[in-house]
Amino acid sequence: ANVLAPNISACNEPIGVPYAEEHYRCCAPVPSYEPQLFRPPVPSAGDIIRVRRTSHSADDKYASKLARAYSLMKELPAEDPRSFVQQANIHCAYCNSVYSQMNSSERFQAHHSWLFFPFHRWYLYFHERILAKLLGDDTFSLTFWNYDHPNSTDIPWLYSAALSPYFALCTALRDASIDHPSSTAALDYSIDTDARSRNVQLSENDNVMYRSLIRDATTAEEFFGFPLRPGETQMSQMGAGTVELKPHNTVHGWLGNKSSVGWKDMGTFYAAANDPLFYAHHAQLDRLWEVWKSIPGHVEFDDADYANAEFLFYNEEGEMVRVKAGDASNTTKLGYVYEDVETPWMEAVP
Ligand code: C2O
Repeated sequence: ANVLAPNISACNEPIGVPYAEEHYRCCAPVPSYEPQLFRPPVPSAGDIIRVRRTSHSADDKYASKLARAYSLMKELPAEDPRSFVQQANIHCAYCNSVYSQMNSSERFQAHHSWLFFPFHRWYLYFHERILAKLLGDDTFSLTFWNYDHPNSTDIPWLYSAALSPYFALCTALRDASIDHPSSTAALDYSIDTDARSRNVQLSENDNVMYRSLIRDATTAEEFFGFPLRPGETQMSQMGAGTVELKPHNTVHGWLGNKSSVGWKDMGTFYAAANDPLFYAHHAQLDRLWEVWKSIPGHVEFDDADYANAEFLFYNEEGEMVRVKAGDASNTTKLGYVYEDVETPWMEAVP
């Protein structure tokens, strides 16, 4: 059997929030109706296909538009499910397990299992459409931060507190010491990583990418994470796929402000999505799913329990819908594609 949509009307305190903030609440507004199943419409000629491009290639025009979209989102009343607060709370709700699985006492956790990739893909799908709707521009898309390429290992300029003229794309809760154009994302970051020269870090990064997408990710289970079925608990790192561990978790940790409780924003689940850079980080991970699939021999799960696993999201109309993990596997059906960019680590056999 598959994991059902969470029981949204019974919302608990988040699990795993630092002691200093234990009363943080992040429950979504409860709709007065039964959320209907949303399946991506069958694509037809003339449909708009959004192209997600690299964050580093964004020009001023794009950046000011993205900033405007986020400002509009931040201005929506906090109880509006499309507001920035509520968008960020989605992450806390699903990742600090405030809901139970329907008909079960097990909490619903979207990490550390095969739910990780489809959950975040749907999350970005609706987030992007809400931004586009606020702008009144159907072609508007998110960008992805391709820190796996040596030319873009620094925080993308538009999101950088040091470089960006756009407050709406920044947060005060980021590690300021890494926010400069010559910084090198540490894709294997951990609390005791020593400072390294750029060249050493770049070759570590290639190793991380090669291991997480090729060497250690030959099966769907290795790449996506362990299966999660109703009533099962999957709250530890043990169930996570290769990319979720690195570079996903590591980049989160690298970005968080080390002197704020829990390494906010990016270093802790409940606060991570308060940083607009979260969405560019996750677009990158979403793109890495496509990259993994494009490598010969890599095959996605063929398992009804995966395909039918469900999530709930508010769409761009502010209406709650139910979606299935299996419907997320084709980005073109979801109306977007990624710009094709170089992946030099593919040749960097460790
Ligand atoms: Cu839901 Cu980057 O984690």
